[in-house]
Amino acid sequence: MWRTHNCGELRLDDKGKSVTISGWIQKIRDKGGLIWIDLRDRYGITQIILEEGETDPGLIDLARSLGREFVIQVQGEVVERVSKNPKNPTGDIEIKAESINILNRSKVPPFTIEDETDGGEELRMKYRYLDLRRGTVRKKLELRHKVMQKTREYLSSIEFMEVETPVLIKSTPEGARDFIVPSRMNPGEFYALPQSPQTFKQLLMVSGFDRYFQIVKCFRDEDLRADRQPEFTQIDCEMSFVSRDDVLSTFEGLTKFLFREVNKVDLEDFPVMSYQDVMAKYGTDKPDLRFGMPITDLSGIAKNHDFNVFNSAESILAICVERAADYTRKQIDQLTDWVKRPQVGARGLVYVKYNEDGSLKSSVDKFYDQEDLKKWFAQAEGKPGDLLLILAGDDKSTRFAAGELRLHMGNTLKLMNPDEFKPLWVVDFPLLEWDEETQRYYAMHHPFTSPKEEDLEQIEKNPGNVSANAYDLVINGVEIGGGSIRIHDRSIQEKMFKALGFTEEEAKEQFGFLLNAFEYGAPPHGGIAFGFDRLCSLMGGSTSIRDYIAFPKNNSGRDLMIDTPSEISPEQLEELSIKLISKTKES
Ligand code: AMO
Repeated sequence: MWRTHNCGELRLDDKGKSVTISGWIQKIRDKGGLIWIDLRDRYGITQIILEEGETDPGLIDLARSLGREFVIQVQGEVVERVSKNPKNPTGDIEIKAESINILNRSKVPPFTIEDETDGGEELRMKYRYLDLRRGTVRKKLELRHKVMQKTREYLSSIEFMEVETPVLIKSTPEGARDFIVPSRMNPGEFYALPQSPQTFKQLLMVSGFDRYFQIVKCFRDEDLRADRQPEFTQIDCEMSFVSRDDVLSTFEGLTKFLFREVNKVDLEDFPVMSYQDVMAKYGTDKPDLRFGMPITDLSGIAKNHDFNVFNSAESILAICVERAADYTRKQIDQLTDWVKRPQVGARGLVYVKYNEDGSLKSSVDKFYDQEDLKKWFAQAEGKPGDLLLILAGDDKSTRFAAGELRLHMGNTLKLMNPDEFKPLWVVDFPLLEWDEETQRYYAMHHPFTSPKEEDLEQIEKNPGNVSANAYDLVINGVEIGGGSIRIHDRSIQEKMFKALGFTEEEAKEQFGFLLNAFEYGAPPHGGIAFGFDRLCSLMGGSTSIRDYIAFPKNNSGRDLMIDTPSEISPEQLEELSIKLISKTKES
C-alpha cells in the first residue's frame, strides 16, 4: 500500500494511529538532534519528525541524505505537536517516522516550489510540471475544475445537452486567421481547426436539439495578449425558439449561479446598455463599471473661442476626476505624456481645475473665461475640488483615447476594487464594420448574426447603418462572452454574404452546407459563447488567463516545455505533399 492517508487529512483525532503517507519533500530542517521533513501532495503538507536518541540512527542517516522534491513514503505514528501551526490544517500533529522509503530521487529543482517562487516566467513555463506543484498554481486549476463542473451542472439542469463537434473542419470566419492541418489522404487539401463551433451548433438547432452546450477548445491564429491564447476554451451554447432576452436571462442565470457557488458572491441584476451608449459614455464597448468618471461631450459648448485645437476638432471630450484639482504641474505633464503615447494616440491634453474656493484654473485661460469653464464643469457634473481632463480630435480616436485615459485614472486612483464584480450586457452592436484598408465591410460578430428586424430593409442600400441582434457580456472591463440571434432564413443569409463582399459562388462554396440546411426547416435560434479561461481568471482575481490553463503558450504562441511549434522531417513533409517555399525562422 502506497499510503493510508494523504498529506492533508490527518488531525489531532488521529493521534496514536500508525499511518503511511507518500509525497514530495517540500522542506527539510535539521536542528542537530531533531529533523523535520515537510511532506507535500495535492491535498496539503504534513510534518514528519525524527529525533536522535528515539529514532533508529540508520533512519536518521537516511533522512540526512534526502533532498527537496524527492518522492518518499513514510510510515510512523501520529503524535501531537509541541508547537502547533494554526496556519496549516494538519498543524496540530506530526508523524514520528518509523520507516522511510525513497520512491524516487529528484534533481535540485530550477526554482523553489513555494507559493512565492524565485522562478521567472520563462523558466516556470519550461518546467511547467514543477510550477504546477506550487499550491497557488494548483488552486487556480482547482477553481477552473469547479467552474467547469458547476457549468455542466447548471446547464444540464435546464435541458442543455452537451454535444461534441469536430475539430478537423473547414474554415469558419470569426475574424482571426485559421490554424491549418494538411490532409495526407487528400494531397493539397487542408482542414482548419475551429475558431468556434459556430456553424455546427446552428446545424444542431436545425436537427432539433433545442438546447446545446459544449465546453470546447477553439483555435485562433491571432496576436496574443494577457487575455488571449491561440487555443482557448469556450462555454459554447445555442438555443432554439428564443428571443434575445431569453438568451440574456439564461446566461445571466448561469453567471450568477457560478459566482454564488464558486465565489460566494451574489451578483445583482445585470444592467443592459446599447453599444452606442457605452461608446459615448466610456469610449469602449467593454467598460469597467466599478467606477464612474463617464466621458462628457463638450463639443456643443467649447467651440468658437479662438482656440483652434477645439474649433477644428470633430469631438471635444472630457472626463471629470473627482477631488483631483490639487494635481501638480508635474502630474499634469505626466498625464499629457501618457495620452500622447502611440497606444493612446491623443495629440495633447487640456486641463481645468475647479479650486475649492470656486475659482477655476486651466491650460486654456487665454481663450476661455471663468464662466465658460464653469459651464464645462456643469456639463460634466463636476464640483469644486475636481479636475477636468479634455481631449479633442476626430470622434473615433478621441473617444478611444478618452476611454483609455478614464481607465488610467481609475487605475492610478485605485478606483477598481478587486473584490467587486460589475457585469454589464452590451446590446445592439452594429452589424458591419467598414475597413478602410481593404475597402470592405466585415461582420462585427460573425456573418451568421441577424440584423435587427427593423433594419432589415437597409441591409442592401445602407449596410453600415444596420444594427445587429448581438450582445456581449462584460464584467469589470473584460469581454467574457458574446453571441447573437442568428439568421435562419436562406435569403437573408445570402444578403448578408453579399454585404460582406462574397460572390454567390464563394458563399455557396464556403457555406453551402448551412444555406442548404436553412431550406430544411431551420428554427429561429440564437446563442452565446463565454470565454472560459477569461471567466476563470476573472473569478480567481487575475488578469492573465495563462495562470488558469494547465499548459499555456507564451506570447509568441510557443510551448516552451515541449518546444513547439517545431520543424517536421522532410519525410513527413513529403507524405503531406508540402514543399516549403522559405524557412522564415532564420530570416
Ligand atoms: P467570440 O469570438 O466573441 O464569439 O468568442 C466568445 C468569447 O471567447 C473569448 N475569446 C478568447 N479567449 C481567450 N483567447 C482568445 N484568443 C479568445 N478569443 C475569444 C472571449 C469572447 O467573448 N461563435 C461566437 C459565439 C456566438 O456567437 O455564439 C464566438 O466565438 O471571452
